[in-house]
Amino acid sequence: MSTAFLNGTFLPLDRAQVSVMDRGFLFGDGVYEVIPVYAGKLFRLTHHLKRLQNSLDGVRIGNPLTDFEWTEILTELVARNTGSDQDVYLQVTRGAAARRDHAFPVDTRPTVFAMSTPASAMRDIASEIGIKAITLPDIRWQKCDIKAITLLPNVLLRQQAIDAASAEAILIKNGHATEGAASNIFIVHNGVLVTPPKGPSLLPGITRDLVLELAAANGIPFREAGITEQDLEQAEEVWVTSSTREISPVTHLNDEIVGDGQPGPLWQRMIQLYQDYKVALRRGEAS
Ligand code: PDD
Repeated sequence: MSTAFLNGTFLPLDRAQVSVMDRGFLFGDGVYEVIPVYAGKLFRLTHHLKRLQNSLDGVRIGNPLTDFEWTEILTELVARNTGSDQDVYLQVTRGAAARRDHAFPVDTRPTVFAMSTPASAMRDIASEIGIKAITLPDIRWQKCDIKAITLLPNVLLRQQAIDAASAEAILIKNGHATEGAASNIFIVHNGVLVTPPKGPSLLPGITRDLVLELAAANGIPFREAGITEQDLEQAEEVWVTSSTREISPVTHLNDEIVGDGQPGPLWQRMIQLYQDYKVALRRGEAS
């Protein structure tokens, strides 16, 4: 049984319990992070903690822990769980109140929960083989830059993709691709890597930022710009990125072949840079 962390205590995951009055349960009133762990090291932890702070600010929950405390707790959580490659999930909700009321309760303490699971064997493999994706209308709210636990639209969209024998839904809003149901999106257009600019329509992905950093450091031309549905249909390459999927090439979009139906040359280059970065991280030469 894996070890979890709940409100100050490490305990077996199956013994971790919260009140049914917790606002996370009643309202989806909370935020979360997913942090990959390679060779026991939390990947880009400072970036994740910064985004957590932004999410907490966005929903007006005070951060219950300092970055130092988060680091101590998450490091211990990883050490207490098996496997050198893990996926850490953490969430902070507004806590449990005596009665159900939409308005913020006074004097409740946030609920802090974290768990870690062995990294899916798919993490490395999924990024090696192409995936199928479909486009769907972006039915989410207007604050998608907040990593809220309220994920019902994302759940429905991802399931719609699965039902269509696809691995991801690429979301369309006002004629533009925003991101995937649980990933960011990149296309290659005339040899240039393009991803939508940050803003309220998408989550500022940690993987996305690293891809752009690697592009900049290695002379790969890139642009942060809107991607129209037409750009998407005509793209030479389409990728989706996330902490759990890394960089996955989309080889089929709405049952049409993307490029020549194989992971493209720019993806081959980027995944190599990404793997090199992970090797450096495992050696303690990157964070
Ligand atoms: N999701 N966009 C959305 C809507 C996401 O849910 C995610 C990640 C991303 C990619 O962000 P990052 O590169 O920081 O993982 C973009 C996580 C993995 C999840 O919900 O499980």
